[in-house]
Amino acid sequence: MFKPQPPRARVLHRRQVRQVDSPHEWDRPNPAWRRILSRIERVRIVMPRPLLSPEFTIPDLSSVVLPALPQVPGMIEDAEGLYLYWLTSRIYKGAGAVVEVGTWLGRSTLHLAAGLRDAGHDDALHCFDQFVWRRSHATKAALSLRRGEDFQPYFESNVRPVYPNLRVTKAPIRSLRWSGGPIEILFLDAPKSLPELSSVLAAFGPSLIPGVSVIVFQDYQHLPSFEVPLVLSCLGDNLEAQHVLECGSTASFTVRKPLRFDTAQPVHWNFNRWSREETAEAWRRILAPLPPRARARMAGGLALTLYARRERAAACQALREVGRGDELLATWQRFTTFPFYDRFRPLFRILGIRPRPGDRPPFAGLRWKIREARASLRPLRRRLGAWIRM
Ligand SMILES: C[S@@+](CC[C@H](N)C(=O)[O-])C[C@H]1O[C@@H](n2cnc3c(N)ncnc32)[C@H](O)[C@@H]1O
Repeated sequence: MFKPQPPRARVLHRRQVRQVDSPHEWDRPNPAWRRILSRIERVRIVMPRPLLSPEFTIPDLSSVVLPALPQVPGMIEDAEGLYLYWLTSRIYKGAGAVVEVGTWLGRSTLHLAAGLRDAGHDDALHCFDQFVWRRSHATKAALSLRRGEDFQPYFESNVRPVYPNLRVTKAPIRSLRWSGGPIEILFLDAPKSLPELSSVLAAFGPSLIPGVSVIVFQDYQHLPSFEVPLVLSCLGDNLEAQHVLECGSTASFTVRKPLRFDTAQPVHWNFNRWSREETAEAWRRILAPLPPRARARMAGGLALTLYARRERAAACQALREVGRGDELLATWQRFTTFPFYDRFRPLFRILGIRPRPGDRPPFAGLRWKIREARASLRPLRRRLGAWIRM
């Protein structure tokens, strides 16, 4: 039966928009649409307010002694492991669970677990991951697993000896659910995009305790995860800047106000709809509370955001304005790998950075072009599918 569709403008003016499972169309409007939308929505979009706390602090971990732990391949720095151990052994009060999303083989989990164990909390740790082996995982750990295989048994055999009561849930981010009561520490090392962060906040946000709970974002300063600080900048004074690590990419926040979000996000979280000025302002607010080294490292965030939105000339200009400081160059040099370099190649060229031999697989450029072509055909395929099903 023919169902009348609401006019597009009305859909866009609702406070909350589509389910996170289908973010594609609203998530990436093309530049012409964005200009029109940002004009229509300018009156309505409530831009994020500054974080309550003026600055992040660098925690002093010099007195923390890490116990002997099993050696497990992982993607966190030693300083980040020490921070996690310090959080659960010294700061954790026992007011709620400790939840980790994105464990991989358990390196971060081991540090959280050892801290809890040493502080006498033997039943507090809950871990979530989809435990699906990826091609990129094989470059970091030599396990006899093929792409798509389950690595949960490896994770469990690494962590259970240290923390026998560990609770593990195998689930993709979009179907995360939580009914385990209050959460005191939420450690996130899997959600990197707006839809993923929305799902995580919807699942765990209502269980975080204002004034007590801490959210740790492992990838806050990680260049390819530039959507993380952008989404967080939308939460305004619900979060207060807490710690930032100079070695690694971790930053943490104290929850100040209840985080009650559904799986649909307020429309203003969608930074792809922000005007250029709004985006630049958001990055100014993201960078302001950071210590100098972290600020220099993340200074290219505006350029990445604009480039990802296909505002390429403005992105290049923004990067030129940032300059070529040592910290920025050293950070970008670490990401000349596939597919990040291929996606943002002109920005790397502005910085004079070329991939080192071995950074990228053979035919990386061609693989990226095929990926891009398939992504641009996806909306057409979806529409065609819907039309055929009608
Ligand atoms: C960066 S790794 C975590 C590294 C780990 N914390 C460590 O210390 O080595 C990211 C993890 O998130 C998981 N992950 C990525 N995307 C996911 C998704 N959509 N749903 C659930 N887990 C996901 C991956 O399986 C991987 O284990």
